[in-house]
Amino acid sequence: MTETMIGVIGGSGVYDLDTLEDKRWVAVESPWGLPSDEILTGTLGGVKMAFLPRHGRGHVHSPSTVPYRANIDALKRLGVTDVISVSACGSFREEMAPGDFVVIDQFIDRTFAREKSFFGSGCVAHVSVAHPTCPRLGAACLTAASEAGIRVHDGGTYLAMEGPQFSTLAESKMYRDSWGADVIGMTNMPEAKLAREAELCYASVAMVTDYDSWHPDHGAVDITEIVKILTGNADKARDLVSRLPGLLGAERTPCPHGCDRALDYALLTAPE
Ligand code: ADE
Repeated sequence: MTETMIGVIGGSGVYDLDTLEDKRWVAVESPWGLPSDEILTGTLGGVKMAFLPRHGRGHVHSPSTVPYRANIDALKRLGVTDVISVSACGSFREEMAPGDFVVIDQFIDRTFAREKSFFGSGCVAHVSVAHPTCPRLGAACLTAASEAGIRVHDGGTYLAMEGPQFSTLAESKMYRDSWGADVIGMTNMPEAKLAREAELCYASVAMVTDYDSWHPDHGAVDITEIVKILTGNADKARDLVSRLPGLLGAERTPCPHGCDRALDYALLTAPE
């Protein structure tokens, strides 16, 4: 039996996890470069925790320059077993309103200017991302959100765009009407794919901040509005996260969905 260590990657507006006990910011080195920032380690209800601000304290990394590989590798090196991504998103659905949370279960990856794999040179692997999030971890996030009294939606397709500009009206309508996306953001890819390659369970909690640009009754997306909603949401996100140790427990059984064994049948190059 392994020990649970919950890793939280905090998005815009979430730069700290002040509820942690025995808090310590630690520098973690990775062959993939420097992570976005030092990682805040500690415990919560007897469960080990690690928190990494995705954009760095002071918000110094744009979605395209976040060092996704170093971030996932650094969490893995610390002993993290389960990664929760917390991030802002725009909504394509009337019922997914600003302030609501969505536990994501699918992605459409439209990013193109990021390193997307740990494999390729010297060691080739093709992992499955047909089901890119961990159902066990997602269920825990859903329960935690409901217990915290958060309006939460069970499942949703997240379209990951490159940015940094928001979508045009035509793109927004296409993603919503033709592609069936539910929400849009700039950071969950390639994060989710890399977590799978690193054999980490990954769940994404997307916090709706706006209706992107498709909604006839709402204006274009405005970053100052987004930040206002996010700041209001940060406490809800912290409440959700603080309930996860009680739901996941300190002792970790193997992932029933095989996230922690993703490479078993994925390696093409024989390991040395
Ligand atoms: N993050 C928050 N809102 C967004 C939007 N409308 N598009 C892309 N990323 C976002």
